[in-house]
Amino acid sequence: MSTLELAAAALLGTQLLDAKYSIKHDVLLVQKVVRSAIPYLINCARGRASFWYYFEKSAQRNGSNRAISFPRPLKNPPPIETDSNGVKNYDNQFEVENYTYKELYDIVLRLSYILKNEYGVTPDQTIALDCMNKPIFIFLWLALWNIGALPAFLNFNTKDKPLIHCLKISNVTQVFIDPDCSGPIRDTEPEIRTELPNVKLHYMNEVELLRVIQDRATPKYRAPDHTRRPEDTDSSCCALIYTSGTTGLPKAGIMSWRKAFMAANFFGYIMKIENKSNVLTAMPLYHSTAAMLGVCPSLLTGACISISQKFSATSFWTQAKLCGSTHIQYVGEVCRYLLHAKPHPDQQAHNVRIAYGNGLRKDIWLDFKKRFHIEAIGEFYASTESPIATTSLQYGDYGVGACRKYGGFINFILSFSQVLVKMDPEDENEIWRDPATGYAIRAKNNQPGELLMKILNTKNIEGTFQGYYGNKKATSSKVVRDVFRKGDAWFRTGDLLKEDGDGLLYFVDRLGDTFRWKSENVSASEVENELMGSQAIKGSVVVGVRVPNHEGRAGFAVIEPKDEYLNGTRTDELLGKVYQHAQKSLPKYAVPQFIKIIEQIESSHNHKVPKNQYKNQKLPRGDNGKDVIYWLNRDRYEELTEDSWDSIIKGASKL
Ligand SMILES: *[C@@H]1O[C@H](CO)[C@@H](O)[C@H](O)[C@H]1NC(C)=O
Ligand SMILES: *[C@@H]1O[C@H](CO)[C@@H](O)[C@H](O)[C@H]1NC(C)=O
Ligand SMILES: *[C@@H]1O[C@H](CO)[C@@H](O)[C@H](O)[C@H]1NC(C)=O
Ligand SMILES: *[C@@H]1O[C@H](CO)[C@@H](O)[C@H](O)[C@H]1NC(C)=O
Ligand SMILES: *[C@@H]1O[C@H](CO)[C@@H](O)[C@H](O)[C@H]1NC(C)=O
Ligand SMILES: *[C@@H]1O[C@H](CO)[C@@H](O)[C@H](O)[C@H]1NC(C)=O
Repeated sequence: MSTLELAAAALLGTQLLDAKYSIKHDVLLVQKVVRSAIPYLINCARGRASFWYYFEKSAQRNGSNRAISFPRPLKNPPPIETDSNGVKNYDNQFEVENYTYKELYDIVLRLSYILKNEYGVTPDQTIALDCMNKPIFIFLWLALWNIGALPAFLNFNTKDKPLIHCLKISNVTQVFIDPDCSGPIRDTEPEIRTELPNVKLHYMNEVELLRVIQDRATPKYRAPDHTRRPEDTDSSCCALIYTSGTTGLPKAGIMSWRKAFMAANFFGYIMKIENKSNVLTAMPLYHSTAAMLGVCPSLLTGACISISQKFSATSFWTQAKLCGSTHIQYVGEVCRYLLHAKPHPDQQAHNVRIAYGNGLRKDIWLDFKKRFHIEAIGEFYASTESPIATTSLQYGDYGVGACRKYGGFINFILSFSQVLVKMDPEDENEIWRDPATGYAIRAKNNQPGELLMKILNTKNIEGTFQGYYGNKKATSSKVVRDVFRKGDAWFRTGDLLKEDGDGLLYFVDRLGDTFRWKSENVSASEVENELMGSQAIKGSVVVGVRVPNHEGRAGFAVIEPKDEYLNGTRTDELLGKVYQHAQKSLPKYAVPQFIKIIEQIESSHNHKVPKNQYKNQKLPRGDNGKDVIYWLNRDRYEELTEDSWDSIIKGASKL
């Protein structure tokens, strides 16, 4: 890949503007791109594509800067103090652990020694991490980069078939497990032992391990450069991050060194992450948002990454205060939870200036900024596997809700590389093609269309889009050719967006078979497959439905029971069976929130037809106002009454 291409790709991917047609910022960004991309490409040519060298540089440049801050929730916390106004003080629920760059570097070298000598980790292995958000996650990750091994970040909620699948497709040889989140993997252990007998599972003793890697007596190992994958190029894989996709089981998304580099350099620059910044993330580190856009920019610039073990709406701002955070990462749900939480003095006692993430909706954007005293919102659009991202950093009122905002110059360049295409009105998953020419056309202003990103070098698609590990088919299904011209190639984001007259982009919805719930992708077909295992149904159609005051879409399963459950007396048993099986075999967020029982699901030759037909479910009682719909109240499906629906909408009953 040429410098020019890298620069162009970076440019296309990341833009910032405060005002409508600000050329000044465009120019600064172009300069930044050129200045850092050229040295990086030279390094790649010298066999130093690894991000390890950037981390090492930060550690050596200023070892006394804080690198990691972790408000560790106390195992046996003292009682929460409440003042005379009934305001709770969460300060004493955490103990803030800090690690400077020097300390972090030494810890990583000691851990590398242990991994290499006690666990036999070598550069050709893929090692899975199954950890909550804790410093140990980052220690292991960096130690693997030091050794040259490939880290794979498991979602610790994954279990059963999907978990085995994750380990299998990425050729994982060892798994390091945090006992605090080991339930799902423990439950699956018997199957792992039979299906993947060579995979070693290590349940870590966190306290003991932390002691050993901070003990000066433990030897250090800094791997020689020639063992750290010197053959890697900028498009080689640096980490595997699993995404749940449209075709059922999770896919391993390839993070490339280039992506880490670009995220760290340009994204960090746009979000104003500097050596005195402190970025708090409560997003899971096993997702690319936290890992690539939170951790990497911090490590590159010498900033501090603060990690919250688990998102908590009540103590979030307390944690931001305790860590001294200047930046926070969000997803839309988080913003809503925070806005729903009772006011707390810490919501303004913090130092946070910039919040960045995706999915902050227009309707709460300004409230969020105002209530929590946030100066700027950095809303972006990106997907784990897409080659590039779009960004806007927004201080004022212009561009509220947009995920892309840019100036005239970049605007012009971008119009060739990111487009919204018109969708087929008959089947919204398909790109519409003009019958006369066979080519697609652009969506009109304010008309939702799928966002496509141009693949610059059509002969070497992997150079731009690394795709999924060991899954050529899934990779190529993300690429569409001959869109506007013979031979062109575009990356399909799978998301519907719309563009207004000013060139601002807004997220509309996800396409196809997946929907988002609790910040996770739910694959409808995966849920449908799993529900069959309950042995009580003939079939089902799963769709996502909107619920007022909730982000994303909740799972809604239309089920066709086996005949013996149809006569009405055995409904409880039926629902019980479905629930028991679903909670055992699906991650929590994928268990359907709503169920409707029907006698027969209509089918046709085209499998998409039933979906469309069942897609627009009306809550709480269907179109005719008479349907009986069940909702999942904790661990039981119950009939959805007007009252329970009310209480769900108000947030009193939790989905
Ligand atoms: C290194 O960091 C310390 C503490 O943050 C700071 O006081 C010092 O000025 C820094 N030194 C350099 C060379 O940046
Ligand atoms: C870690 O850093 C924070 C912020 O500077 C500070 O408040 C806290 O006391 C430190 N923790 C420890 C154990 O030193
Ligand atoms: C899987 O890993 C083993 C050892 O780590 C290696 O020998 C093997 O070739 C790998 N297989 C694939 C398909 O990468
Ligand atoms: C931060 O970086 C600036 C230059 O970019 C440098 O002058 C300063 O010393 C650094 N501060 C710390 C704490 O590292
Ligand atoms: C959801 O799917 C998108 C598109 O495939 C992907 O980029 C994203 O990382 C996925 N999110 C999760 C939480 O897996
Ligand atoms: C329903 O099925 C049960 C058991 O299969 C049977 O005992 C019962 O009589 C049936 N009721 C009706 C109304 O058909």
